[in-house]
Amino acid sequence: MTSTSRAETVLVTGATGFIGSHTWVDLLAAGHRVVGVDNFVNSSPRVLDRLRKVVDGDIDFVRLDVRDRAALGDVFRRWKIDSVIHFAALKAVGESVDIPLEYYDTNVNATLGLVRVMAEHGVRRLVFSSSCAIYGAADKVPIAEDTPARPTNPYARTKWMCEQILADLCARDPSWHVTSLRYFNPAGAHESGLLGEDPRGVPNNVMPYLAQVAVARRPELSIFGDDYPTPDGTGVRDYIHVVDLAEGHRLALDHLDDQAGHRVINLGTGAGTSVRELLAAFSAACARDLPSRVVARRPGDVAALVADAALARTALGWSARRDVADMCRDAWEFQRLNPGGYDDEEEPDELVG
Ligand code: NAD
Ligand code: WQD
Repeated sequence: MTSTSRAETVLVTGATGFIGSHTWVDLLAAGHRVVGVDNFVNSSPRVLDRLRKVVDGDIDFVRLDVRDRAALGDVFRRWKIDSVIHFAALKAVGESVDIPLEYYDTNVNATLGLVRVMAEHGVRRLVFSSSCAIYGAADKVPIAEDTPARPTNPYARTKWMCEQILADLCARDPSWHVTSLRYFNPAGAHESGLLGEDPRGVPNNVMPYLAQVAVARRPELSIFGDDYPTPDGTGVRDYIHVVDLAEGHRLALDHLDDQAGHRVINLGTGAGTSVRELLAAFSAACARDLPSRVVARRPGDVAALVADAALARTALGWSARRDVADMCRDAWEFQRLNPGGYDDEEEPDELVG
């Protein structure tokens, strides 16, 4: 394992999103220069002000749609980009069943366009956002990277297709260095309380849902089934703190040159947490017993998804440092300070100035 960790100019797509914004902060703190791009389809322009506060300085940002190759080309002409972290994508599993073509266009077509523009500008270093979703219902946990992909919905298929496109590209031209990071369940927020997860509409995911129950925006958590073959019957997942995830991206960037071609690395903690355990941890964080009710299983859910996190340790020197209690504390702090999310009319007093 060797590492470059020289200062680079990094193009970050989807930069104002949940994971992109935290990674932006981490890259700047490590001395890299970041050019962020996003079209705000699933994020708020207010994130830019929050970022300026967190990093206490100016930031480079261009509003664009990553499907717009001409606009991407302008970014490569304006800055001397060394590498790319590609987060921009649509990510709601249920929505991907309803509007599959939007998902294939935004997730697959845009990735194809991006690598073409990169090639035109001689940039061949890429970290790609993949997902544990591609494993589907794996036969055994923890799940290692060589587990066969069995994506079960259009969203997961877009990620699997992108990985295959990137693998084919790298097989043909080994001057490319590409790492696809398959992350498990990102959660938590920046410790400042300025950045966090702010989904539009009703949250699909359990952690932002719990946070909204905690500020009484939702009456109770619906627990989707308690008859799974898990210790307490509820679904088990590998939750990973978004700041650990951000560090994982920076290290993946530092280690891109270790190996030519395409490689795939899980980012997870290796520890499983059930819905009931998460509910208890969040209740402890906000010092209130959060109400819940068991309802039917959610179609498509699996009993347990937990990462085998060994490769990230050996290949990147990365392992998660934060646990579920940290995630709940930080998610609660963000939600407490931003009860209506980024686009609340008024800034809470603590954030003004
Ligand atoms: P997010 O929705 O918060 O961030 C994605 C960002 O991409 C948003 O700011 C959105 O506005 C932007 N975007 C979408 N389409 C765009 C387009 N056409 N042009 C420009 N910008 C566009 O999601 P996130 O949780 O930060 O996820 C980031 C990446 O990680 C995604 O690729 C997602 O599929 C992947 N991922 C997420 C999870 C998760 O559960 N959060 C898990 C595994 C993988
Ligand atoms: C976690 C657990 C639910 C909501 C999703 C995507 C996956 C990846 C990560 C992008 C499960 C239970 C949930 C609720 C509940 N994303 N639950 N009540 O489904 O593991 O993974 O995010 O790549 O593709 O599918 O995450 O947070 O939705 O669910 O009981 O209101 O919480 O059944 O056991 P999931 P989740």
